[in-house]
Order: sequence, then C-alpha cells, then structure tokens
Amino acid sequence: MKGLGMIVLFIHPIKLISVEIAKLQKPLNSFYEKNGETVSPLLSPVMCPCLVHDQFSLSSVCCVHGLTSVSTGIHTNVASHEYFQEVTGESSIESRLVRSYKRSFNGFAARLTESEMERVAKLDGVVSVFPSKMYKIQTTGSWNFMGLKDGNDTKRNLGVESNTIIGVIDTGVWPESESFSDKGFGPPPKKWKGVCSGGANFTCNNKLIGARDYTGEGVRDIIGHGTHTASIAAGNAVADISFFGIGNGTVRGAVPASRIAVYKVCLRNGCTSEAILSAFDDAIADGVDLITLSLDGYIKSFEQEPNSIGAFHAMAKGVLTVNSADNSGPTPASISSVAPWIFTVAASNTNRGFVNKVVLGNGKKIEGKSVNAFDLKGKKYPLVYGKSAASPACDTDSAKKCLARCLDESLVKGKILVCASSDGLSIAHSMGAVASIIINPSDYASIHAIPFSALSPEDFDLLTAPKVVSFSGRGSNRIASDILKPDISAPGVEILAAYSHVASPVPPYKQENDTRRVNYAVLAGTSMACPHAAGVAAYVKTFYPEWTPSMIKSAIMTTAWPMNAAGTGVASAEFSYGAGHVDPIAALNPGLVYELDKADYIAFLCGMNFNMTTLKIIAGEAVTCTENILQRNLNYPSMSAKLSSSDSSFTVTFNRTVTNVGAPNSTYKCKVLAGRGSTLSVKVSPSVLSMKSVNEKQSFTVTVSGSNVDPELPSSASLIWFDGTHNVRSPIVFI
Ligand SMILES: *[C@@H]1O[C@H](CO)[C@@H](O)[C@H](O)[C@H]1NC(C)=O
Ligand SMILES: *[C@@H]1O[C@H](CO)[C@@H](O)[C@H](O)[C@H]1NC(C)=O
Ligand SMILES: *[C@@H]1O[C@H](CO)[C@@H](O)[C@H](O)[C@H]1NC(C)=O
Ligand SMILES: *[C@@H]1O[C@H](CO)[C@@H](O)[C@H](O)[C@H]1NC(C)=O
Ligand SMILES: *[C@@H]1O[C@H](CO)[C@@H](O)[C@H](O)[C@H]1NC(C)=O
Ligand SMILES: *[C@@H]1O[C@H](CO)[C@@H](O)[C@H](O)[C@H]1NC(C)=O
Ligand SMILES: *[C@@H]1O[C@H](CO)[C@@H](O)[C@H](O)[C@H]1NC(C)=O
Repeated sequence: MKGLGMIVLFIHPIKLISVEIAKLQKPLNSFYEKNGETVSPLLSPVMCPCLVHDQFSLSSVCCVHGLTSVSTGIHTNVASHEYFQEVTGESSIESRLVRSYKRSFNGFAARLTESEMERVAKLDGVVSVFPSKMYKIQTTGSWNFMGLKDGNDTKRNLGVESNTIIGVIDTGVWPESESFSDKGFGPPPKKWKGVCSGGANFTCNNKLIGARDYTGEGVRDIIGHGTHTASIAAGNAVADISFFGIGNGTVRGAVPASRIAVYKVCLRNGCTSEAILSAFDDAIADGVDLITLSLDGYIKSFEQEPNSIGAFHAMAKGVLTVNSADNSGPTPASISSVAPWIFTVAASNTNRGFVNKVVLGNGKKIEGKSVNAFDLKGKKYPLVYGKSAASPACDTDSAKKCLARCLDESLVKGKILVCASSDGLSIAHSMGAVASIIINPSDYASIHAIPFSALSPEDFDLLTAPKVVSFSGRGSNRIASDILKPDISAPGVEILAAYSHVASPVPPYKQENDTRRVNYAVLAGTSMACPHAAGVAAYVKTFYPEWTPSMIKSAIMTTAWPMNAAGTGVASAEFSYGAGHVDPIAALNPGLVYELDKADYIAFLCGMNFNMTTLKIIAGEAVTCTENILQRNLNYPSMSAKLSSSDSSFTVTFNRTVTNVGAPNSTYKCKVLAGRGSTLSVKVSPSVLSMKSVNEKQSFTVTVSGSNVDPELPSSASLIWFDGTHNVRSPIVFI
C-alpha cells in the first residue's frame, strides 16, 4: 500500500496541521491554487497501523505513535505561505503542504514538527492548536432486508428535485451501479460548479454529476459504505432487487430525480480531518443543496472537530448537514454529533418483518415499510395513528382509541387508520380510511366491512412506535448540555441499498472468506439512518427551495412521530430519538417553524464562553460577541436543560420564536403532554398565538418547574402548538 512516507513520521515527529484561516483578504496565491487538490500520501490512514486491526475504534490509538493533526486559525493579514515559511524557515513548502481549503472557507493543512507547532501556537494570529482524529465509518452488519418502494402516489416537485444536488461525504461510490444510472436525466443543474475527478476508470454522468477524491485512492468505492448511503438518499428507483432473493422489491432513494456529488474522504481505516474539511469546502462551493455525512464525530469541543466546523460553514451558506448519531449506544452521553447547526440522526428499526404479518381484511397484505409514506404504490397507503389524527375535542387516550368525534377526518381519509381499540373500525370506515389496524389479539380472523387487521398488544406497540436500536448513540450532549441530541430518528437497520461490487457484503467490508459480491447489500447503522433523514430533508427542500437549513430541520422535527421509549436503553427515551421518527409527508406541512441563523449560533457560542479565538475557528472569520444567550434559549425545535444535581426543585424558562409557514390566518393553542420520568409542570406564555400573515413571527416562553428529577432518567413532556390542522410538537427534556 502507499503511504510509506509515514515511516518518516515515526522517526521524526512531524505533525499534520490543519489551518483554518479566517477570511483572507486576498485570495491565496498560485501555490495554493496549484496544489489545492494535492493529496499527500502522508495523509493515508495506513500511517496508523494499529487501525488496520481495529477498524471500529478510533485513531486516538494511532496518536500514541505521535501522529496527530492539528488545526489552527491565523489572522487574515498574513498570507498563508509567508506565515508558513516563517514557521518552518523553508522557502519551499510544497513537500509540507497537505492540502488547502480555499473555496468556502480558507485554510490549509500541512505537516509540522513538534517545535514548529509550538512556534505556530506562539505566532501572532494563531488561534488554536488541536489534534485531529480519524473518523470511522458507521455500519453494523445485518442480513435482513428493508426496502423503499417507488410510486407515483408520492407527491413530488420533480422540476426542483431534478435540480437538487445531494453531496455525499463518504467512502466514494460505485459509479456503474444502476442506482446512479442517468437514464432519463438531463444535463446537470446550471448552478453546479463541481468537477468529476474520480481518478482512473471513473466516469460521472448526469445523475452522478460530481466526484472528488481526498484519499489518493480514486473515488471508486471499494468498501460499499458510500455507495450504500448515496443510494439511500438519492438513488434511482431500481426494480426487482433482492439480496440473494430476500426482500425482492424496488430499491430507491428518497429523491430519485435529484443529482449526486460524491466526496471521498475515507479509506478502510478511517477518514482524516483534513479530508473531511476539504470535502466540505469543495461541496459548498460546488453548489450542493445538502450534505449527508455518515461519519461520526470525535467530540471534545466544536472547534476541534471537522464535522462541526465544516457544517457551520455549510449552514452559513444555506446548506444543511445531516449527520449520523454514531454507533456507540446505548451508553448514555455516547453521541458524538452534538452541534446545534448539524441535523443529527439516530437509527431505528422499521418493523418491516412485523408489518409483513399484517393481513388486511380484504386479503391484501401490507408489505414493506409502511410507516414510511414514501412507500406508496397504488395498493399501499400511509398509516395514520388515532393519536396523530386527534381532533381538539378529545384527550389523547380517546384519540388513540379512535373514539367517535375524536379524529380529524381530513387526516384519516385515504389512509390506514391505526387504533388502540376496535371502536376504530366503524370510525375508520365513516371517515374514509382505506383500512384500519386495531389492537385486539383475539379478533385476528374476524371479517369486517373494511380492511383491517388486529394485532397483539406487543405488536401493536411495535407498529405504533418504531424503536431506536441499541447501537444508536445516545444523549445527553457532552458539549452543549442544554441542546437535545440526537435530533431525529430514521430507519437504520436492515437497509438494502446499492453496494460496491468489490466488497464483501459482510461488514467490516472485507471478510476474507466471503467471496460473494453483490450490487445491493443489506446494512444497518446510524450511517444508514443519516441518508434517510438527508433524503427527507432534500424532499422537503424540493417543495420549499428557499427554506433555510434550520427551517427544514424544524419542519422535520416538529412533525416527527412519537417513538417507543421502552427498551431504548438505560435512561434513553428522547436521548435516543430526539424529536421522534421522520415523517416525510407531514414535514411538508409543519405550520410553524423555529428559525435559526448564523448570528443565533454565534450568540449561542458566545453564551458558552467561546472566545474570539475559538469562535474564529468555527465561524471562519473574526467574530465579536455582541450578544450572549443561554444554550436553552437558542431557538431550537426541542427544549432541554441539564439541571445541576443539587436542584431538588427547579424552575427553568425557555424563550422561543416561531415563524408561520402555514395559512396566513391561523390561531395556535398550546397543549402540553406529559412524558416520562418525574412530573413536570409546564406553563406557556402566551398560550395562544394568533398569526395574521405568512412569515409572521411570534415569541413565547415555556416555564417548566419540577422537583426531584431522577438524574439517571430524563424527565420529559411535549409542547404542541395546534391550530386544528398542525401539531407542532417539541420535546421538553430534563436531566
Ligand atoms: C407512473 O406514472 C408514469 C407517468 O405518468 C406512468 O407511465 C406509469 O405507468 C405510472 N406507474 C404506475 C405504477 O402507476
Ligand atoms: C473499470 O472498473 C470496472 C469496475 O471495477 C472494471 O470492470 C473495468 O474492467 C475497469 N476498466 C479498466 C479499463 O480498468
Ligand atoms: C421479484 O419480483 C418480481 C415481481 O414480483 C418478479 O418478476 C421477479 O421474478 C422476482 N425476482 C426474484 C429474484 O424473485
Ligand atoms: C477463513 O478460512 C480459513 C480456511 O478455511 C480459516 O482457517 C479461517 O479461520 C477463516 N477466516 C475467517 C475470518 O473465518
Ligand atoms: C480561548 O478558549 C480556548 C478554549 O477554551 C482556550 O484554550 C484559550 O486559551 C482561550 N483563549 C483566550 C485568548 O482566552
Ligand atoms: C425571554 O422572553 C421574555 C419574555 O418575552 C423576556 O422578558 C426575556 O428577556 C427573554 N429572555 C431572553 C434571555 O431572551
Ligand atoms: C384573516 O381573517 C380576518 C378576520 O376573519 C379577515 O378579515 C382577513 O381577510 C383574513 N385574511 C386572510 C389573508 O385570509
């Protein structure tokens, strides 16, 4: 393998250094222009031989050998090559420069010795030095199957969808996969500014419009992970795919008409900080609409982590970064994707096997992942739960049972209604549901006037609320303790998607004795959940191209399905699934959104005592704190606070502002639902929001008091703004 230059590293303690330069006043000189794409073999993770044997543990191991990367920021008034020369005393720095970031944010990566690093740290304008890490791929194996099906019944905005570009930062892609064929695609969108530089024997097309390599290996995916994630988010619909006959069906991404741009940052052993930052830099400048990043973070602080830094720049340019929660659950506080400007995705089961057992009264079978409303195909209908279709007239329990007058007909019509009692049958019928599923173990074989199925209480639980899988990383948030993470949950087990044709379908990707090669494989992991949520976010964006990242994120979070808290692990619940399970169709119509922009995040960081130095690393420019806000007053779609352990009784207030994106004239009333753990008392003021126009903003405060909260178990409630149509739901969580 290449990368033998690493030996030098062990003899001579050269370090990799990633430098982010706050807003250069003049463009970097031609040296950097010329070498911007250069990949040094020294970057190859084979520098870390320990990793070869330890794929799923982080490279902190590696750093024991003295290989660390550092990132620093320097002032704008020092041209980076001069700065570099000052530090190294060398006139030629070509051999030292690893790469430069110059498109969306400014900086470069280079190799420095220990003493040079010390000098860097002392130089005027140098803001911080931190070790860089290797980032692992998130996939755990699964042989089961989960497919997404195509259908004309899914509402689409095809014109915009076809102009949507999904940036995939991962292990590359298998370009010949049918999932990325460009049959029927026109030329790339006009806004596309990227390139196809995938290396030898790699061709892009009008579907796979871009490829960039930061590994030196070429963008062809020899692992399968990147091919899988890209196809989950945006792959074509490909019919009659199965995994050795299991799960025969159509495989497709959430937005099959959209385009894909691939940024290869990972090799088998991991992905370097430098590569990840470069990929963000390029993807943003290339014009991607959204970035899906199925790599975990390595969290000590936001300014030390390329995912957080890259995603901040993306956010500032209107690009949402969707990131996997990581696979380190169910240990509490194991989640590594914790920045509020990132959309963090947990992995849940899909109950596919279970749903297969549901036989409707008319003999039809529901197959596939019916909980996903993308899954329509003439004979397939979305499920709606009595609870989710509640009319204001009733309490939740009556709505769950689908009692008369408790449901909103418009939410039930044309769907499969799921009720906690057989009373739902006649209601479902009268409201125009196409079928219903009720809880009634003894009634399975009954024949009723409309299609229905009865399930055991256990199965019913499973159906009504998907569960987060054990491996999915859990909160609480180790950096920003009052920001609830993860944000959302999406299917992450038993996912069949496109794969590399040279990789074994058994993770970790290369089982020596597994000689099978497939075009489609089944994987599980938060890595698979991430592109599901990214695909949903892209889907929402095709309807609202002008929406900011925070609006899209809010829409998906506040319309999410409540999830099953049971069995999510020690003290999990919201710390395992955040706001709940993605509901792509509901996300198109959120009613209200919680908006956030760059200035809000800066105020948030200022409130966390980030100083000018660390702020500059994250924001990529000099920032002065003019406003400080408490973490919990960041206008986030969820509300969370960590109580000091001495708080036997407490009162905490959250400030929030919602923006009306529903009907011009709408009046929202607040509802508070009790959650689990200690009882919380929640006061919302004002309790009614009367919106007169679209885009109108209104503020409110949520004051929560309680006592004796179990430090091991989060206590929760939900705030819902309800206008008769929309349930704008936010979890409130205390620990
Ligand atoms: C979907 O729509 C296309 C174009 O209108 C049509 O050709 C095709 O038959 C439809 N497919 C199904 C399954 O209805
Ligand atoms: C290009 O890659 C494909 C897939 O690995 C392979 O089948 C083909 O032979 C390669 N072509 C060349 C010219 O190397
Ligand atoms: C998969 O299903 C399709 C349609 O039902 C059928 O035509 C095809 O033969 C099946 N393929 C396999 C491998 O079972
Ligand atoms: C692969 O097969 C060889 C020979 O059958 C066996 O000794 C070895 O343990 C196998 N390796 C794995 C990882 O199963
Ligand atoms: C800024 O904060 C960082 C991280 O907390 C700290 O290491 C550094 O010393 C601070 N710099 C200044 C100038 O206060
Ligand atoms: C929160 O909102 C209340 C009422 O609008 C206001 O008095 C208070 O200043 C706000 N607090 C913060 C930190 O914004
Ligand atoms: C909103 O409602 C008021 C009072 O019912 C009405 O006068 C006004 O025309 C409505 N505005 C819109 C935009 O529907």
